[in-house]
Amino acid sequence: MALIIGDGEILLGLGDGPVTQRLDRSNRHGVIAGATGTGKTVTLQVMAQAFSDAGVPVFAADVKGDLSGIALPGTPNDKMLARAAAMDLTLAPSAPPTLFWDLFGQKGHPIRTTISEMGPVLLARLLELNDVQEGVLTIVFHVADKDGLLLLDLKDLQAALKYVADHAAEIGTEYGNVSPATVGTIQRKLLALQSQGADNFFGEPALRLADLMRTDVAGRGYVSLLAADTLINAPKLYSTFLLWLLSELFEELPEVGDPEKPKLVFFFDEAHLLFNDAPKPLLDKIEQVVRLIRSKGVGIYFVTQNPADIPDAVLGQLGARVQHALRAYTPADQKGLKAAAQSFRVNPGFDTAETIQALGVGEALVSTLDEKGAPCMVQKTLVRPPASRLGPLTPEERAAQIAKSPVAGQYDQVIDRQSAYELLQDRAQQAQHQSDLASAEVEAEKRRAAEDKIRAREDAARARAAPRASSRQGMAETFAKSLLRTVASQAGREIMRGVLGSLRRSR
Ligand SMILES: Nc1ncnc2c1ncn2[C@@H]1O[C@H](COP(=O)(O)OP(=O)(O)OP(=O)(O)O)[C@@H](O)[C@H]1O
Ligand SMILES: [Mg+2]
Repeated sequence: MALIIGDGEILLGLGDGPVTQRLDRSNRHGVIAGATGTGKTVTLQVMAQAFSDAGVPVFAADVKGDLSGIALPGTPNDKMLARAAAMDLTLAPSAPPTLFWDLFGQKGHPIRTTISEMGPVLLARLLELNDVQEGVLTIVFHVADKDGLLLLDLKDLQAALKYVADHAAEIGTEYGNVSPATVGTIQRKLLALQSQGADNFFGEPALRLADLMRTDVAGRGYVSLLAADTLINAPKLYSTFLLWLLSELFEELPEVGDPEKPKLVFFFDEAHLLFNDAPKPLLDKIEQVVRLIRSKGVGIYFVTQNPADIPDAVLGQLGARVQHALRAYTPADQKGLKAAAQSFRVNPGFDTAETIQALGVGEALVSTLDEKGAPCMVQKTLVRPPASRLGPLTPEERAAQIAKSPVAGQYDQVIDRQSAYELLQDRAQQAQHQSDLASAEVEAEKRRAAEDKIRAREDAARARAAPRASSRQGMAETFAKSLLRTVASQAGREIMRGVLGSLRRSR
């Protein structure tokens, strides 16, 4: 039996009959939840491969490295064969086309974005800035955006911060108070971020979203896997990166309403990290992006141990629910169990809460959306075994996959083009040069004046006609003013930013 059953559905497993999910409702998001070791990652693997077979590209974070096996056909063991037999499935080993990505550029193609594209909102989250610091960072972006100072990498941002601190007074009158002490704090936090390896992530060539939305010649969607085993140790970088990616997709993709099948399905593992101690305004924005992105044809699937980790406003938007076993030892467990049970449309055949606790490994309660977008009755489901490999690739296998990938070589070399850092350095050098010329002129004039005294008085006219000298201080001021003039003259031409502050390009 093929992975796609019927028309426009994917097969998840066996309940009273086949348990399926409609592709035309797969942009209505979903959740895969369950205690550790209950089968969440394998369910993700099964779903990802089924989407790929249906021509839908998939993006997923590989938190433990065990999802990487999806790239190669599996060798089913007896247990898997028995599971397949129970469902009357022939388990034909196969694997979807897979791309490996890595923010650190080691276990996959490097993924980069620019500071400017990430924008002040997410960067403030990444740097854990308070409101005042975020305000100053926003001013730095305003000044840079308006003046065409390209903020590509961390050293550009450092340079722009220094520039703003050096000209706090002039910039302050235009934008509001910029305290050099606050700038100093942001600079220190940037250094700390750098030491976590974030340098690798900011710069060019930046990720092209089209590379995440590829299909192969056979029409299968590529499964993009983000190596997240190291990244997960920097939870802020992990969650901010995924949030940035969501916001890019949201800003870039056109409206499509409810398409026949999603344009992209996005699995968000360790989803609680996204919401943990996120301030209310950010939560509101995340909720908004999640709500609106479905009409761009993107389905988001949150993977988490406890569904209670996801805010109600987001949980309420999730159409597909796969609930693996939950334990109910602690009060927090019980709260999670209750939330999970209540989110299902009751099946008169069994008690939801009781069944959730009794589920075996690779079993789940599943509810998907029907044609009208209403939840189907919950079904106890034996999740199908994956046709690809269970467990990780070896480093050699991974390297071979990366080498033969269609984007091989495209992102490997960092390009460091002329941007804020170089520009400000150039300008500073020029100012210095001008200032040096001016000083030289002062010296020359002094000499001339001394000579003039000795010479005849009629020569005084020549001394008066000599170019007027300006001090170094004067040159610096002129430079700052000319920048502010440029800023002012370009008012209204500011770069457009979206809900989460990332760049918005006109299509
Ligand atoms: N659908 C399935 N078919 C066959 N085996 C399965 C299936 N689901 C789970 N298993 C078995 O259970 C093991 C644990 O599953 P999995 O790794 O998906 O758990 P998990 O919920 O992701 O755990 P963790 O929270 O620790 O990441 C798998 O390695 C596999 O052996
Ligand atoms: Mg797992």
